[in-house]
Amino acid sequence: MRRRRALLYVPGDQERKIRKAAGLDVDSVCLDLEDGVRLEQKAVARATVARVAPDLDFGTTELLVRINPPTRENTALAESDLTAVLPIRPAGIVVPKVEAPWQLHWVAYRVQQAEETLDLPPGSIRLLAILETARGVENRSAIAQATPRLDALIFGAEDFTADIGAQRSPSNTEVLFARQAVLLTAKAYGLQALDIVYIRYRDLEGLAREAREAAAWGFDGKQVIHPAQVPVVQEAFTPSPDEVAAARRVLEAYRRARQRGEGVIGLDGRMIDRPMVEAARRVLHRAGLEDEI
Ligand code: COA
Ligand code: MG
Repeated sequence: MRRRRALLYVPGDQERKIRKAAGLDVDSVCLDLEDGVRLEQKAVARATVARVAPDLDFGTTELLVRINPPTRENTALAESDLTAVLPIRPAGIVVPKVEAPWQLHWVAYRVQQAEETLDLPPGSIRLLAILETARGVENRSAIAQATPRLDALIFGAEDFTADIGAQRSPSNTEVLFARQAVLLTAKAYGLQALDIVYIRYRDLEGLAREAREAAAWGFDGKQVIHPAQVPVVQEAFTPSPDEVAAARRVLEAYRRARQRGEGVIGLDGRMIDRPMVEAARRVLHRAGLEDEI
């Protein structure tokens, strides 16, 4: 799975920001058709994304689009979103306010049809699900297993607190359980877990603290809303040179031991066994050193 240390939202109706985003050194850019766009602007946003994105070179940055969620009452918005943006061949679709598996089935079916029409490899367009309502968090396990297209669970704190009637606070204690529950479920089903937005976008120290905490908990990345947040967050989710060196030594010792046919080994007076080897591999993955794994 590709690295998604920072996932930058860009309002789909703001061409200037879309162009700016293409030039940033960011793992993922998510052109937004949902909450970052007013209802009267939805059609403009769709058209802007479809017109501007194919023009731009995003380099190694992954291009994602966040659609409006299909709901029992209304699938028209989501349908129009997909019709407009799938032809630009986004690497993935971000589905917000997911509350039940059918919503991902619904999107996956349309994505699969588009892949056939566009002659793309089956399964190449990925899905990322945002859990940000009480029901979404409650149904997280079923949602996590909805489709093999799913790469990540994302937790959204602002919508979640609004939905349950909690008051948002800098301590994040009101979202602690849900945030960790989404993380746990993502890991249980081999998915990435992406953390909350830090909305005070001028406060880069607070952002760094929150991002480091999330990385230490096991999150793979974090949603961001402003270019200044990108390097701070990507650094927090990148292992330090010391961590990389330690991981390399573990893998090296493990390879030597395996040649000798031993499963458990000692390194600097510490026992090294499978979980530590897996953790070392994850460190190299997070450092972008895929070829050494
Ligand atoms: N993506 C790309 N470029 C962005 C950007 C974003 N998300 N946010 C700001 N920029 C650009 C601005 O256009 C500006 O570029 P310019 O000087 O070349 O015009 C530069 O970065 C500095 O922006 P700044 O003036 O500090 O911020 P702002 O007042 O223009 O915008 C926000 C503040 C919060 C409105 C803006 O960051 C934003 O739109 N964020 C995304 C919001 C969103 O998508 N929300 C829904 C998902 S939670
Ligand atoms: Mg929202």
